[in-house]
Amino acid sequence: MNLYFEHIYTVRERFDEALAAQGFDSVLIFAGQPAVAFLDDNAYPFRVNPFFKYWVPVTDSPKSFIFYEPGKEPQLFLFQARDFWHAQPVVPPGDWQEHVEVIPIDSKHIVGERVAKEFGKTAFIGESFDALADWRIAAVNPEGLLHHLHYQRAKKTPYEVECMRKANVLAARGHLAAEAAFRNNQSELDIHHAYIQAMRVRETQLPYNSIVGLNEHGAILHYDHYETEAPSTQRSFLIDAGAYYNGYCADITRTYSKEPQGFFAELIEAMDQAERDIIDEIEVGRSYYDLHVATHHKIAKILHEFGFFKVDANTIYERGYSNAFFPHGLGHFIGLQVHDVGGYLKNPQGESYARDSRHPFLRLRREIEPGHVFTIEPGLYVVDQLLEAFDGNEDFNWQRIAELRPYGGIRIEDSVHVTKNGVENLTRTAFDSLK
Ligand code: GLY
Ligand code: MN
Ligand code: MN
Repeated sequence: MNLYFEHIYTVRERFDEALAAQGFDSVLIFAGQPAVAFLDDNAYPFRVNPFFKYWVPVTDSPKSFIFYEPGKEPQLFLFQARDFWHAQPVVPPGDWQEHVEVIPIDSKHIVGERVAKEFGKTAFIGESFDALADWRIAAVNPEGLLHHLHYQRAKKTPYEVECMRKANVLAARGHLAAEAAFRNNQSELDIHHAYIQAMRVRETQLPYNSIVGLNEHGAILHYDHYETEAPSTQRSFLIDAGAYYNGYCADITRTYSKEPQGFFAELIEAMDQAERDIIDEIEVGRSYYDLHVATHHKIAKILHEFGFFKVDANTIYERGYSNAFFPHGLGHFIGLQVHDVGGYLKNPQGESYARDSRHPFLRLRREIEPGHVFTIEPGLYVVDQLLEAFDGNEDFNWQRIAELRPYGGIRIEDSVHVTKNGVENLTRTAFDSLK
């Protein structure tokens, strides 16, 4: 069966269920519109409402709407301004158009009139706008409906997984170019440019600001400053950069050592092995929280083996020392959003898991199910701000930590797709396909 056809069928079923459960008889989804800078007439880059691109692979048509009433064909009100200033947005070709009724509009008020005249108890999903107050909408972004839809979104359709396979291939192409630029001693900015050039996109078409850090910058978790000059010595390179395909995300991190041998190269190899081992431990029914804790134990073991501590691995974990080196979560759902929704939801009714103060930045606590796609991204960094709390602590080998500091840190990040029969590593398969 055509993948998109199967996908939209599932999306329809999910909305049928969620709308009925929440007492709505239709939904109106707004694509959004670009925000304009203060006192200016220039807009920020447009980011489409994820629920809009859930229905159709249209990511660059602001002011458009989807209207869906269970049992009827979905309607896409496609905004095409009468405008001689700008090029018309290009809608991707494809047979997706056979599964929705496409209705061109040149004003969103046309939709408002239809809502007022023809539609019933309609839920609106999207960023609100002034005129919406005059439309006969039953509820704007009702929380119960969003929880229900967010819960369902964790299970990806085969179409969605295929889009993410393609996004991973695109991003992997960029990553290979970025590694080559690093080997060629280029600056962070030039490496960043090599990445987007290899992918044939502009910067605003990336799902998030790429993290391109040389040497110490690898320890800054969201480093996106991009020095224009290359440092005189290049020791290490951490790149966390993604891609979109039909609005679906890739999110990949790799860390490289300039020297093929030696302490930092060996530490990367140990982290890479740990990452692959954690992926091997993924099992349907296991809680992602357990996987996160198991990763802490693996990192504690590495910290011990590489001489960063004078105490054993268990003590490193129990005393909370591994949190200083691996402060973020093991990963997150990924899909229409890089940090995809629903990671703490227990059920469609919106009940959620409690946050654990020991692991406050973990974004995913659910039990693993077939159809889930999430990242696995263990890290190990020298973050001085976190180490300050342990100043003078004799359990730490400060000399060894000082040796690691000039290299920043390490993160290895892949996206995996869980199936009934095992785990598909979307990222490593993408790199392999480019060999
Ligand atoms: N690139 C953001 C993240 O890895 O979660
Ligand atoms: Mn990630
Ligand atoms: Mn990432």
